[in-house]
Amino acid sequence: MAAQVISGKKVAKEIREELKIETEKLIRDTGVQPGLVTILVGENPASVSYVTAKGKAAKKLGFNSIQENVPADISEENLLALVEKYNNDSSIHGILVQLPIPKHINDKKILYAIDPDKDVDAFHPMNVGRMVIGEPVFLPCTPAGIQELIVRSGVNTEGAEVVVVGRSNIVGKPIANMMLQKAKGANSTVTVVHTRTRDMAEHTRRADILIVAAGAPKAVTADMVKEGAAVIDVGVNRIGTTESGKAKLCGDVDYEPVAEKAGYITPVPGGVGPMTITMLMKNTLKAAQVAASKK
Ligand code: GUN
Repeated sequence: MAAQVISGKKVAKEIREELKIETEKLIRDTGVQPGLVTILVGENPASVSYVTAKGKAAKKLGFNSIQENVPADISEENLLALVEKYNNDSSIHGILVQLPIPKHINDKKILYAIDPDKDVDAFHPMNVGRMVIGEPVFLPCTPAGIQELIVRSGVNTEGAEVVVVGRSNIVGKPIANMMLQKAKGANSTVTVVHTRTRDMAEHTRRADILIVAAGAPKAVTADMVKEGAAVIDVGVNRIGTTESGKAKLCGDVDYEPVAEKAGYITPVPGGVGPMTITMLMKNTLKAAQVAASKK
């Protein structure tokens, strides 16, 4: 039996409609319009396209959206000063510095300079810590999007075996942490496998929910998946080009054979991707709501 395809595009649209209504309400009730600044250093084509999409999504929800383009050779000091300017700007509730940034700048120094209350990526150690102890203000965007997709698809997480492939700070570690929380949409038994795992397939074959953020195409093949499992593919690999000359995207899962075996699967593109931006919008709205409640 073929898997049910989980459309991140559709779920993201649903959530954005909810966020638009909440944004209108916030503006009406408090006069506070959510403000998001995205900072793009240099002209990395993938980064340009992500930042453009984030700005567009923000405008569509009625946010005040500012894009700061700075040259690739900006000094660390000047980039820190720019972050500081927006830390002190009460009309801005979310600050996002698009990664990667050029090597001559210490990216951690920049990310950790963002006011934790405006850290809508949730990369600051304060927000990481809040998440780990189960008291989050913001959840990191991609993991939050994954969890929403699982929950809104009706996949049971209570007591489920969740296996996460990959241990990055952006996806693997936080999603593993979120799924083991004593909370709705979590309460799972979590295993994290990675490049040093002895027998990866032995673990992945036990998964009721398999979350794949390995960073390599076809890292998960059908023999590694349990019949009926929910497979969430977080991979974004650019391989080759389409007829129109655009980069062709594929995930980390060997899609067709895995879709034959799984119960649920997310496609690439159109799966986790649209959810990440949506969760960024959710975090920005939350930051504005918190700011409005303190006025
Ligand atoms: N680069 C790739 N993904 C992300 C993300 O989620 N946030 C930021 N700031 N940069 C990224």
